[in-house]
Amino acid sequence: MYSLKSRFNTKTLGAILCATALVTPALAQAEPTVEVLHYWTSGGEAKAAVALKNDFEAHGGKWIDSPVAGGGGSAAMTVLRSRVLSGDAPTAVQLKSPAIMEWAEQGALANLDDVAQKEKWDEILPKRLSTLMKYDGHYVAVPVNIHRTDMIWANPEVLAKAGASEVPSNWEDFNKLAEKLQAQGIVPLALGGQPWQETILFENVVLGIGGTGFYQKALIEQDEDALKSDTMKKVFDEMRILRGFVDNDFSGRDWNLATAMVMNGKAAMQVMGDWAKGEFMAAGKVPGKDFLCTATPSNHGYLFNTDSFAMFHVEGADKVEGQNLLASLILGQKFQETFNLLKGSIPARLGVPMDKFDECALQSEKDMKASQASDGFLPSVGVDMALPGNLTGTIVDTVTAHFNSEMSSQDAVDKLVQSLELAKE
Ligand code: BGC
Repeated sequence: MYSLKSRFNTKTLGAILCATALVTPALAQAEPTVEVLHYWTSGGEAKAAVALKNDFEAHGGKWIDSPVAGGGGSAAMTVLRSRVLSGDAPTAVQLKSPAIMEWAEQGALANLDDVAQKEKWDEILPKRLSTLMKYDGHYVAVPVNIHRTDMIWANPEVLAKAGASEVPSNWEDFNKLAEKLQAQGIVPLALGGQPWQETILFENVVLGIGGTGFYQKALIEQDEDALKSDTMKKVFDEMRILRGFVDNDFSGRDWNLATAMVMNGKAAMQVMGDWAKGEFMAAGKVPGKDFLCTATPSNHGYLFNTDSFAMFHVEGADKVEGQNLLASLILGQKFQETFNLLKGSIPARLGVPMDKFDECALQSEKDMKASQASDGFLPSVGVDMALPGNLTGTIVDTVTAHFNSEMSSQDAVDKLVQSLELAKE
């Protein structure tokens, strides 16, 4: 393993540059090359990934695409582990902050301080994000965007059939509207029965019923009183009610197929991150007209999710140059605009003009700022932003076990408390 701090220390870099210049001029002009492991394979996601590839190639780079299908990325993470174990790490990997820290701790990641200093990342990134990209004070990853998971995507025509013109602002009203929709033979809630999607629903209910302080205590700090509270029981009660609003074929369904159900009027609403907007946009739909984007009943909270790329230690001047080029392009002002317009997210970089962004993105920016002023800016558990893998896995397992069985709310609470205790041992 390389030492994390060593890769770009001036001596090493100097030695590499001298050796390169003396030995082979061809190497000095190595073609910047990256192999990018990512899981952006749905319609909207793929468009955004291609924007990155095009930008890289337009700057003289060679892009080797390694997509691993599977929303939420757990399949991609399995591939990553086996690639690293067999000594064949990809050059750049789409990763979330807790996983970035875990890989950095093992010394697997390259140090990006040189690019970061040159391009002033400390100035162009909000501190909340730059902190997530640093291990031991050194940049090891670069953020692409800011997504949020506390969103309901709705089909206004379908809502109108139940006499509604907007999405309810609390879970009680949501249930009432869902009953009306169901009475008309409409699926109220489009959901893909995959553990990470069920957990997105769960975290939104935690936020809506418990509020931002409760979310922080129960999910982020795993405070026992919060976990054992009546509020947590109510959360599982609501999850049981929501289960009744989902169609029978939900098991294993991909998130984008659930989005398609809303798009084509088969279902009324989906609770999903704003990558769902990328699907609507890719299908030529117009926000506010063909679909509604509304924050879930979230008590002024904002559940954030940042996609970033971590660079793994690799040999070869072409690959190292590729990593540096990619890292630098990702935070380019124009690229941040192009990519995030397609992806459904908002820019990670400060100061990107927002005039081309739609009402959903502008609302996201506004809600994000408001949440930051009131401690409501909270990481999503469902998409691995909040906790180390073992703790996320424990919460996800409990949520999915409860959702897919007749387990009582009290049993779910007990299981959550006990399995978190075990996971921490
Ligand atoms: C990622 C998004 C992606 C979504 C669905 C999330 O974990 O952060 O970029 O669109 O999964 O695949």
